[in-house]
Amino acid sequence: MRVLVTGGAGFIGSAVCHALIARGAFVINVDKLTYAANPRSLDGIAAAPHYAFERLDICDRAAMDAVLGKYQPKAVLHLAAESHVDRSITGAAAFIDTNIAGTYHLLEAARQYWAGLTPNERTAFRFVHVSTDEVYGSLGADGHFHEDTPYRPSSPYSASKAASDHLAQAWHVTYGLPVIVSNCSNNYGPRQFPEKLIPLTILKALAGEALPVYGDGSNVRDWLHVEDHAEGLITLLDRGRPGERYNFGGDSERSNLAVVEHICATLDRLMPAARPRQKLISFVTDRPGHDQRYAIDAAKAHRELGWKPRRHFEAGLEQTVKWYLDNRAWWEPLQTRVYGGERLGLLCSARA
Ligand SMILES: NC(=O)c1ccc[n+]([C@@H]2O[C@H](COP(=O)([O-])OP(=O)(O)OC[C@H]3O[C@@H](n4cnc5c(N)ncnc54)[C@H](O)[C@@H]3O)[C@@H](O)[C@H]2O)c1
Repeated sequence: MRVLVTGGAGFIGSAVCHALIARGAFVINVDKLTYAANPRSLDGIAAAPHYAFERLDICDRAAMDAVLGKYQPKAVLHLAAESHVDRSITGAAAFIDTNIAGTYHLLEAARQYWAGLTPNERTAFRFVHVSTDEVYGSLGADGHFHEDTPYRPSSPYSASKAASDHLAQAWHVTYGLPVIVSNCSNNYGPRQFPEKLIPLTILKALAGEALPVYGDGSNVRDWLHVEDHAEGLITLLDRGRPGERYNFGGDSERSNLAVVEHICATLDRLMPAARPRQKLISFVTDRPGHDQRYAIDAAKAHRELGWKPRRHFEAGLEQTVKWYLDNRAWWEPLQTRVYGGERLGLLCSARA
């Protein structure tokens, strides 16, 4: 199996590359290497004979045509994106460019490449467009997102992902490209860029710094381990039905405050400090447009794909904390060169 992965130097994309290589697939990783990429995430597979890396921008149509023609993949797993809500609030342009225009260029390149395949190859080809549960908007205290839940994105990030999901589905309906869309809840695990809640909290707690919790910390997210997500995406290549959408979730709803408190307790156990790290928690101005609750009904993926998350949240979180403790060389350079942990995504008026 030859699979072209976009965004393979990012958090989820690198987990997908590792999982595909472990299964013996030939992986072509196409990544622009933005601030969110970390080539060290590919340690262990970068020298594998069935792995190729191409530093390319998905917005570059000619480059996408060339890379598809060069490697002749049987499938595309499209993960390249701008992915941080807070950054989308302060500057949406890159989100519009990569998430919407980039997906458009990639779909067009894939369509042209697919049209040139033999009939059997065309039938077997898959384009998996990886998206988020954030496109569905916010839930109240009850209910879950289903595959037919209407889209109601709240942030520039989720709006740009929603637009790209519509493009992907339209390329199936109009042109017959075998597109599958996946919508997944919050991922956690090793190699996540330390601007996101879990790694940010781990690193700040380790440094004895204040732990920012937005609003009152009651916002609820469903958490899925990144390796479970990667397995789900790979399963889609074999068992997903073109034209369909699949929700992935971990059945692990937790409030942000509960997640932060659990990280503190885990670190206190693994590496005791002078005083409990919970005392570092600091409630800060809420994120503008902050969705209250996300919850996923993943029954379709369970039923049709035979997929189920294998990792329990608290056990996966402990493994994640240990990974950051054991892999300083992965994150320390990011703190000085890329992102130092400062607050992102505040409106000007909120800053005043
Ligand atoms: N992180 C989550 O919790 C989560 C949950 C559900 C869905 N998703 C989706 O999964 C995908 C991957 O998310 P992630 O958390 O791994 O993101 P990430 O920010 O960690 O990685 C994104 C990767 O895409 C690359 N990239 C960005 N713009 C590019 C461009 N124009 N051309 C080529 N490469 C480019 C970056 O260099 C980076 O390596 C995204 O589409 C995201 O919307 C993420």
